[in-house]
Amino acid sequence: QESPHVYTREEVRSHSSPETRIWVTLGCEVFDVTEFVDLHPGGPSKLMLAAGGPLEPFWALYAVHNQPHVREMLAQYKIGELSPEDKVPSTLKTSDPYIDDPIRHPALKVNSQRPFNAEPPPELLTENYITPNPIFFTRNHLPVPNLDRETYRLHVVGPPGGQSLCLSLDDLYKFPRHEITVTLQCAGNRRSEMTQFKEVRGLEWNIGAISTARWAGARLCDVLAKAGHQLCETEAHVCFEGLDSDPTGTAYGASIPLARAMDPEAEVLLAYEMNGQPLPRDHGFPVRVVVPGVVGARHVKWLGKVSVEPEESYSHWQRRDYKGFSPSVDWDTVDFDSAPSIQELPVQSAITEPKDGETVQSGEVTIKGYAWSGGGRAVVRVDVSLDGGLTWHVAELDGEEQRPRKAWAWRLWQLQAPVPAGRKELNIVCKAVDDSYNVQPDTVAPIWNLRGVLSNAWHRVHVHVAP
Ligand code: HEM
Ligand code: MTE
Repeated sequence: QESPHVYTREEVRSHSSPETRIWVTLGCEVFDVTEFVDLHPGGPSKLMLAAGGPLEPFWALYAVHNQPHVREMLAQYKIGELSPEDKVPSTLKTSDPYIDDPIRHPALKVNSQRPFNAEPPPELLTENYITPNPIFFTRNHLPVPNLDRETYRLHVVGPPGGQSLCLSLDDLYKFPRHEITVTLQCAGNRRSEMTQFKEVRGLEWNIGAISTARWAGARLCDVLAKAGHQLCETEAHVCFEGLDSDPTGTAYGASIPLARAMDPEAEVLLAYEMNGQPLPRDHGFPVRVVVPGVVGARHVKWLGKVSVEPEESYSHWQRRDYKGFSPSVDWDTVDFDSAPSIQELPVQSAITEPKDGETVQSGEVTIKGYAWSGGGRAVVRVDVSLDGGLTWHVAELDGEEQRPRKAWAWRLWQLQAPVPAGRKELNIVCKAVDDSYNVQPDTVAPIWNLRGVLSNAWHRVHVHVAP
């Protein structure tokens, strides 16, 4: 018997397109699946996400592959094995503050490696109502701290004459456990569309800086009450500090109004679980804040300290970032103190399928996407147009039923629509309506701002129709 051909990971990596042929690995085996791509029951674009690398992280998300007939099918395409000594090279220098960052899922589209910022590709974003933890979008400003569940402590500063708390993770488990489904969205989601209109300063996010999870933890109002805090007549804010910090020791921080924090109906959590698992390191292990209906920036991860203050957090990210301005304000004229910090977010929606530039079949087209609004406002309708907004169809809403004023999670939606005969192209557009009848603006121009936040114009996808 001939010994199998041996390949390095580097060689496998260079086979990731139809031109170079498409290779993948499973365990130590190497497969050339070029001929299978178009036959894949889950679609070619999903298979291509694994091109040039291992299948395991993808198959871990889709258990349909754990069946003998799938293995047998793959076996037909085997071309050799990985060289056993070919470990993933660790070329990072030890002086690198990001050396300790966790290993990430290869499906994530990386917008910045250090700090790590990444989003799931549109093909996977709306595949599940609950986003699997490994592909939940990640927005870090600093290196990920390496915290120990045994020595972790949360400091809750008490009111004058009250009692400050120093809580271990086990102490936090003793508060009543509260579980809710919440969508988190970054203020910079869809920033790349603003950039196309006019340059902005910020990371280039596509439509994936949004994800949904089932969070469990203690309610912030219960923990604040235990420390002796009460709702007060004067304006007050609950300030959060993360345990991630820059080389000068400055920690990530943000705040929310005390009234929201103390309202049991607002369901603000100190979360220790995400989709039934301890929080992954990238998402705040062991404890993060979850503020339903509010911009991602206030959901402070790796939470170290909570205090009640007469003013908003003095953090850069509360006062000098995450604010909206008029389109005519530029970096010479901007006055950050003149605008309120973003808290609740406006109504949002986007198309995840088909993708811009794709060719769709004539006859019927399936369009999919997500829709969400801030402040607990429910999405009541998603309108979809195939002709750039001249005529509209109403999409079907999927996902969990929403509670009035507590619609914290997105709706996924889809539409099957006939492609008008003779059309060579479609200008697909979507827009959502929330239960306050807020709508999305039709273009970016009137909402453009120098930081590229709050980008929620109609989402547009241009596709060709197969002849
Ligand atoms: C379904 C094979 C890669 C996502 C399937 C099925 C097979 C298959 C045989 C049908 C299973 C059944 O129900 O009997 C393969 C092979 C792959 C590959 C041989 C690599 C060479 C991937 C990757 C992803 C993926 C990388 C995701 C990123 C899916 C999904 C389905 C599916 C979502 C379910 C489709 C549906 O039922 O709607 N795959 N797959 N696959 N695959 Fe894959
Ligand atoms: N908390 C800390 N401590 N450090 C951070 O960099 N980023 C914030 C917020 N909480 C951040 C943080 C921002 S801007 C967003 S959008 C969310 O976390 C992203 O959460 P995720 O990475 O779990 O998706």
